[in-house]
Amino acid sequence: MLIPKLNSALAYGGDYNPEQWPESVWQEDVKLMREAGVNLVTLGVFSWGKLQPTEKHYDFGWLDRAMDLLAANEIFVDLATATASPPPWMSHRYPDVLAIDANGATFYPGSRQHYSPCSPTYRRLAATLVGRLADRYKKHPALAAWHINNEYGNHVAECHGPDATIAFRTWLQRRYGTLEALNSAWGTAFWSQWYSTWNEILTPRRTPTFANPTQQLDYKRFMSDAVLELFVMERDIVRAATPDVPVTTNYMGFHKPMNYRKWSVEMDFVSWDNYPDPLPGRGGAAAGAAGHDLVRSLKKDRPFLLMEQSISSVTWHAANGPKPPGVMRLWSWQALARGSDGVLFFQWRASKAGAEKFLGGMVSHIPAEKSRTFADVKALGAELKKLAPISGSRVRAQVAIAFDWEAWWAVELDSKPAPIAYATWAQEIHARFYAQNIAVDFVHPAEELTGYRLVIAPALYLLSETAAANLARFVEGGGHLLATYLSGIVDENEHVIVGGYPARLRALLGLWVEEWLVLGQGETDTIRYGKRGQPVVCTHWRDAIHTEGAEVLATFSKGIMAGRPAITRHRFGRGVAYYLGTKPGKAALADLLGKIGRAAGVSAVLQAPPGVEATLREHADARFLFVLNHNTRAVRLSLRNYSGCDLITGKQVTLTVELAAHGAMVVELTLKRNVGGPMHKPP
Ligand code: GAL
Repeated sequence: MLIPKLNSALAYGGDYNPEQWPESVWQEDVKLMREAGVNLVTLGVFSWGKLQPTEKHYDFGWLDRAMDLLAANEIFVDLATATASPPPWMSHRYPDVLAIDANGATFYPGSRQHYSPCSPTYRRLAATLVGRLADRYKKHPALAAWHINNEYGNHVAECHGPDATIAFRTWLQRRYGTLEALNSAWGTAFWSQWYSTWNEILTPRRTPTFANPTQQLDYKRFMSDAVLELFVMERDIVRAATPDVPVTTNYMGFHKPMNYRKWSVEMDFVSWDNYPDPLPGRGGAAAGAAGHDLVRSLKKDRPFLLMEQSISSVTWHAANGPKPPGVMRLWSWQALARGSDGVLFFQWRASKAGAEKFLGGMVSHIPAEKSRTFADVKALGAELKKLAPISGSRVRAQVAIAFDWEAWWAVELDSKPAPIAYATWAQEIHARFYAQNIAVDFVHPAEELTGYRLVIAPALYLLSETAAANLARFVEGGGHLLATYLSGIVDENEHVIVGGYPARLRALLGLWVEEWLVLGQGETDTIRYGKRGQPVVCTHWRDAIHTEGAEVLATFSKGIMAGRPAITRHRFGRGVAYYLGTKPGKAALADLLGKIGRAAGVSAVLQAPPGVEATLREHADARFLFVLNHNTRAVRLSLRNYSGCDLITGKQVTLTVELAAHGAMVVELTLKRNVGGPMHKPP
């Protein structure tokens, strides 16, 4: 159970900012919340200025009344620590709290998140506020969870001011111990960057040309750790006051600056904000699916929580259309289908002032009884009550994508043979499995891989010895691996492992790569499987591969690459390691992944028409089949071996079902036989 006080109900609600409204409006808020079936609100995320209008003066009266009103209406609170936007008095009095960018420019108050994560003053004042909140509300019946800060590192994920510089040096001293070790790790013999005292070291600021890559990489590690320290500081304060109340912060999915894998160890449960482009044809469903799968994988032993999504349109695209009718419901269901134990929105009531007043809310600017979106909110709330049996159940995947923040940071540093969009590449691969209804986790290459049949390592550029050995063990034991170009190139210091790429994976893959013949924008080559295979267009990259044990599955066609290996297969121990030395087009990639998946024994949850998403969630004693129709027309499909009870209609379903445009169903399966593989063992 993510939030014990919800008593196995799915969470439903959103950010609630009563401080923006006169108290007379609050009565209507709770009345409408009850009508909508809301059971959880995230309270007061940006209310620091109202809670502490001056340094010496606190005002908890309004929050007391809001908490009491919510408790009286049986609505629980995910109480925010309110530290995401320091009030103006703070920087006026203590300018050192302000963040400074790599060019030396200051971020000023007037929007939000302008604080330096490394400022001792910010930390002191945040800790004081959080201590007071924890002490005041620790026994409050409405308190169900703690929401620390908000979307850490969304706008400001770096600081280059004096506090950050000192903290960076301390972090480096801890990592390296001696300046000799640092100089060696940073390769400072290159371009005369040798440091003779710690005080010479700076954060990577504006430089004439490419800054030292290891300095940049360490700075990213440092900033992620520094911001995580803020979370841990606040978490420890609230945990001391309320050891039984779970603590989280809202992630942002594929958010590069924060190493969420490292972060997740510190969370009681993980939660995230999902804002894909809602317009048709923009890939919103696939993007949402990838984000859900990533976040779910960060804490695999429990569900996650969809902390925010928009009710309809947002305000940051060039043109902000609404979610087409049915899509809000469908994407809410998608979160559940992929492992969330609830659906929350930003925000409860649309603001009437401020930068996000046109962003929409569960209650919009028009009266609730006239609002199309509020009708949808009520309908969804009623459905979620019927879906409560899924709470606590989990998604099991046979495929994993190795996805590592350190590899992401390193491979996207400047000065590479061709730019690589690491997360995009991983998501493109995910999308091919998503389209086939094959569940995928995102894993660290060094984590336990037993249980997966297939692991894909797209551009796993930075690879430790431990992770390489783990991948080899996985294949040796019978697993299937597909590594792509630019994997296993550098060590943790971003130093090339010389002697032939991809050094640490050479024996496993049965090949070595001599050089890279990258393809520029608009340039293509073709690859061909065997002599008779149809040519398939490829882009971006071509590895000059020499096999040393691997068999060649496909070859390039053009220029000096003609006839040279593009895709290989190598039997290793009881498993198989494939290598992809280029980027095939969408269909060819799907085809390749399909072939490799079949060879690995990977099965789809359901064979369904295009645009129909199917997932399974499992308990120790129940299984649920989700089927979601993302098409704008109805579809008929066969449930094959599955049968059971539709949780919404209460009717038995079997064989063929019809799903309306944007329709969805969840079937509690009859456990008459072991359909689709063994049950998850309960933890
Ligand atoms: C999130 C943020 C919310 C709100 C929302 C809509 O990123 O956490 O506070 O700003 O976006 O833009």
